[in-house]
Amino acid sequence: MSHKIAVLPGDGIGTEITEQAVRVLTALGLDLDVQSAPVGGAAFDAHEHPLPPATLDLARNSAAILFGAVGDWKYDSLPRELRPEQAILGLRKALGLFANLRPAILYPQLANASSLKPEVVSGLDILIVRELTGDIYFGQPRGVRQVEDGPYKGDRQGFDTMHYAETEVRRIAHVAFQAAQKRAKKLCSVDKANVLETSQFWRDIMIAVAAEYPDVELSHMYVDNAAMQLVRAPKAFDVIVTGNLFGDILSDEAAMLTGSIGMLPSASLNSSNQGLYEPSHGSAPDIAGQNIANPLATILSVAMLLRYSLNEAGQAARIESAVQAVLEQGLRTADIHESGTTKVSTSQMGDAVLKALN
Ligand code: NAI
Ligand code: MG
Repeated sequence: MSHKIAVLPGDGIGTEITEQAVRVLTALGLDLDVQSAPVGGAAFDAHEHPLPPATLDLARNSAAILFGAVGDWKYDSLPRELRPEQAILGLRKALGLFANLRPAILYPQLANASSLKPEVVSGLDILIVRELTGDIYFGQPRGVRQVEDGPYKGDRQGFDTMHYAETEVRRIAHVAFQAAQKRAKKLCSVDKANVLETSQFWRDIMIAVAAEYPDVELSHMYVDNAAMQLVRAPKAFDVIVTGNLFGDILSDEAAMLTGSIGMLPSASLNSSNQGLYEPSHGSAPDIAGQNIANPLATILSVAMLLRYSLNEAGQAARIESAVQAVLEQGLRTADIHESGTTKVSTSQMGDAVLKALN
């Protein structure tokens, strides 16, 4: 059966990097039906909406979505619901994408890109699993109210609500345990259970779900300590699972350990393994249209797409090896270029990965 793949290039460098990623995807020889549609600012220009109905339909009916990036300063004056970034939120909501997987990998060849000492980060390969639809970001009630008693009685007060339903914690726990099973079988759940009821509840559910995965070693860490350990000894982690708020912060921290945002893929999955795959970076309007952007984060997102939505782990590994090979050959786009290596364009990097595949 042919798998339908939606390609949503978006704005800025989005079109350039997805072009290379699609070349790699289609070169694998799999039975795929690859269809493109506009999203973000490009879709607003053409259809006056960042996520037009035809694009949303295509996404819904696809096994996986390869997403470039959206956004440009020229849309800053639009009302919020028409801004390019709304397309991602709309897709997450429509498809129920609750699990965000962000690997932070530092290839040995790029060890100098990190601001940390090479011995601390060289060879780093960790995966952060962030819950994406719950937590204080979406909890109700929220707003501004009057304080009813205590020292600030009568004062105005901004407030949000943190909560997690058992179903939400269980389903992200299963994603994380299963990801850990495919790796070093070590899972660290990050919370703030010493202070937050929501976190204690989260921890209890993690422990309950762990009984179904006796081959995975579960540990727990408070988020403040996790933030420290990520810069002190990041290689001690394998898979980290955490809520929406802590995951937002820790996944950006982990990305920066590698120092090369142009190299980091990401996945957002729902419970039927349908997923949206995109580079961790944005549309980089400062370098768009120059054929200099690094396409490797998007190419590595294709590898994640194969592993998590198409169950093609072998093909995923084939792409990851090809990326290793081009780095080994000394080929670098401008963002990761250093003396003694060869500077290549976006399309030349795509050519090199294609060649290394075979
Ligand atoms: P950005 O990630 O687009 O760029 C940050 C810096 O990294 C820039 O100097 C850029 O040139 C560089 N960079 C990013 N990706 C690169 C690549 N593949 N190769 C080489 N250099 C690369 O973040 P920024 O500048 O904060 O945002 C730009 C636009 O992107 C905004 O409109 C923002 O809203 C949007 N954005 C979209 C995201 C998405 O589509 N998921 C995520 C983050 C930002
Ligand atoms: Mg963030």
